[in-house]
Amino acid sequence: MYNNNALKIGLFGANCSSGRAVTLVPERWSGSWPDNLRLARMADDAGIDFMLPIGRWKGYGGDTDYQGATLETVTWACGLLAATQHLTVFGTVHAPLFHPVIAAKEFVTADHIGRGRFGLNLVVGWNEDEFQMFGVTQREHEDRYKYGQEWLDAIKRMWSGEEDFDFDGEYIKLKRVRSKPKPYGGTRPLIMNAGASPTGRAFAVRNCDAFFTQASRNSAGETAERVRGAKLEAQKHGREIDVYTVGVITCRRSTREAEEYYRHCIVENADWSAVDLILAKKNITPEAVGWEEIRRERTHYANGMGGLPIVGDADHVATQLAGLSQAGLRGIGVSFVNYLEELPYFAAEVLPRLERMGVREARPQAQSSLRPTA
Ligand SMILES: Cc1cc2nc3c(=O)[nH]c(=O)nc-3n(C[C@H](O)[C@H](O)[C@H](O)COP(=O)(O)O)c2cc1C
Repeated sequence: MYNNNALKIGLFGANCSSGRAVTLVPERWSGSWPDNLRLARMADDAGIDFMLPIGRWKGYGGDTDYQGATLETVTWACGLLAATQHLTVFGTVHAPLFHPVIAAKEFVTADHIGRGRFGLNLVVGWNEDEFQMFGVTQREHEDRYKYGQEWLDAIKRMWSGEEDFDFDGEYIKLKRVRSKPKPYGGTRPLIMNAGASPTGRAFAVRNCDAFFTQASRNSAGETAERVRGAKLEAQKHGREIDVYTVGVITCRRSTREAEEYYRHCIVENADWSAVDLILAKKNITPEAVGWEEIRRERTHYANGMGGLPIVGDADHVATQLAGLSQAGLRGIGVSFVNYLEELPYFAAEVLPRLERMGVREARPQAQSSLRPTA
């Protein structure tokens, strides 16, 4: 992430079975450790900038038990950081489920293993099922972010030079906290968040380096407007943030081939039973939003659970990605139906086009001066 690529590209969701494609096709992503390891090494060699996992504790069910087998993200990140050289690897952590003193130390450990390449995706949670599994009562929506603020404040103090401090929050109370070592090289891990509600967005722009938001499916102008809005909100807090999005790529030799594969996986062979369970968990029901919206949401959720679909040949995919950069986005976390099978073509055909378009470099040099200071 600490390089001159104007558009950072990462892989999103590979730690989960089926990744981000709610499909029955047999080649759907395994999410296994050997596949993740091979993928991370391949991505590292190809110049991919980051890997972003999903913090998921319980599958969604359906015919495939969508995302039913998941690798825990911080331990996953440690393994991948040890096996790679350049990539930033995020851990995605539910603040209410990880004690901050343990969490701060886990992140520092991962950061040392990766020599400064660990990133933190802080999530406050939304899935009631998962919290019940932990025996933890989910707070009201606003309070989740109040708790998240205290949790992050405590973690940042542990990462700073302070020692033996007391932390006396409304929710978190800690005595004579000592936490050594500090993050790698006097810097700190990149922090991201993807809050979508006004409270979640406000949290992200106040605290994070990277804010993930939905790109518009309608126009680049609308996406640019969203990016500008988030950056302006951050400026009001005297901060600068980078804005990212998520996408789902189907890239083939011809647009026709790509569209056919997309239709095969995501329409004809979607795991609709799982899609309906996901929608129900998010309270997207016919009663709540009407049938027309349900039909639209079903298609969006089958492919990438709402990420921007980019379907076409390499020219089309590269043009779309460059367009996102021009709209002001700093990066995109992408997924494929089968990451290992599809990344080589993407890396061979799309990345060089993005270099020629001036939004990426062939072999970017990491610059530690670009990392946030502690
Ligand atoms: C890129 C991205 C990654 C996310 N990762 C997770 C995750 O791994 N686990 C999770 O529970 N929520 C995840 N979320 C959900 C967000 O953290 C957030 O809860 C959601 O967008 C709803 O926003 P709100 O909390 O402001 O209501 C993710 C969202 C996005 C867009």
